Amino acid sequence: MLHKFEPLRNDRLLRAARGEKVDRPPIWVMRQAGRYLPEYHDAKGTHDFFACCRSPEIASTLTLQPIDRYANLIDAAIIFSDILVIPQAMGMTVEMLPEKGPSFPHPLSSPSDPQYHHLTTYKHDVEKELDYVYQAITLTRKKLRGRVPLIGFCGAPWTLLCYMVEGGGSKIFRQAKTWLYRYPDESKKLLQIIAELCVEYLARQVVAGAQLVMVFDSWAGELSPSSFTDFALPYLRYISKELPKRLKELQVDVVPMTVFAKGAWYALDKLCESGYDVVGLDWLHDPAEAVRVARGRVTLQGNADPGVLYGGREAITRVVEDMVKGFGGGKERWIVNLGHGITPFVDPDDLKFFFEEVVRCTA
Ligand code: CP3
Repeated sequence: MLHKFEPLRNDRLLRAARGEKVDRPPIWVMRQAGRYLPEYHDAKGTHDFFACCRSPEIASTLTLQPIDRYANLIDAAIIFSDILVIPQAMGMTVEMLPEKGPSFPHPLSSPSDPQYHHLTTYKHDVEKELDYVYQAITLTRKKLRGRVPLIGFCGAPWTLLCYMVEGGGSKIFRQAKTWLYRYPDESKKLLQIIAELCVEYLARQVVAGAQLVMVFDSWAGELSPSSFTDFALPYLRYISKELPKRLKELQVDVVPMTVFAKGAWYALDKLCESGYDVVGLDWLHDPAEAVRVARGRVTLQGNADPGVLYGGREAITRVVEDMVKGFGGGKERWIVNLGHGITPFVDPDDLKFFFEEVVRCTA
């Protein structure tokens, strides 16, 4: 069952995640495989988004595109997939609408919705349902030939619950807030089930070849500090506590874990104690302040405003210099990233310049 891969030739990411010194901080960016790359559109062709995720050949090709384009500048690959594959594995339909983003034709409406009964009682099987992801990971590891490590990921329970009840993105989170305040117990039951599926899903990704795993809590910033403590943090902690146990049972080595709770700046101290090796920061954090709060307990990942990539070279230089200074030079306990995913219409050469500036400033 265990795969054999070529030895890793660039382990900056894993070293930094474990708190070891590096020659320069590892660099990668969220959504590095995506619409801003012309080759993404070529490889995707007329396939819809989830069809690409389900094809190991296409998913691995898309994963490798930024690695090829930014060779020697980028220190990690992240598997091309989506956080919404877990709701799909739980039996919900999710479509990716051009221009609009993810959409559930039948979102979960209330605890009396028959879907709630199915979602909370049926024994969902992420090992079987998401086998295509594991195949994509194994194929990508082979194609990487040890150039850089491969990151696996999942959505955090709170963020997945938001999508399942909202049916897509939202501005006012009417449904998610209704669930949280009106049905707290039913929400927690569902959050726990999702958390258990996250553990199994991440464990299977590691078995398939993922060398670090990241949990995306993209909607954490919609919670108040106390709601975060009740509805997000316990499930993030459950994942970080149970994943190493599950990996042991499956007889694979543990891997570093990253948590990214976007918008939850108020929870940084708690996140540093949540059992993860790396804590992702969005651009609302001042790096020097975040370093002070973290006190060396975790590696920090982030956090340039992705919007700087619309601002031209001088702005990029300014932002990178500031960021590197804020993270104290970054030879320890820092992974360079943007504060959120790279957005469409960015010029790929401006992203290259961003990487080159990081290398220049951290030499
Ligand atoms: O390169 C990578 O980072 C790996 C691939 C990746 C994608 N989605 C590909 C993708 C990852 C890690 C994700 C995670 C994801 N998906 C998150 C968490 C990160 C975050 O952004 O907060 C979320 C919230 C989703 C759900 C999702 N998927 C949304 C909201 C959208 C629409 C975004 C948009 O820009 O319109 C997607 C679509 C998506 N996921 C695309 C890609 C490359 C764009 C698909 C396309 O239109 O071709």
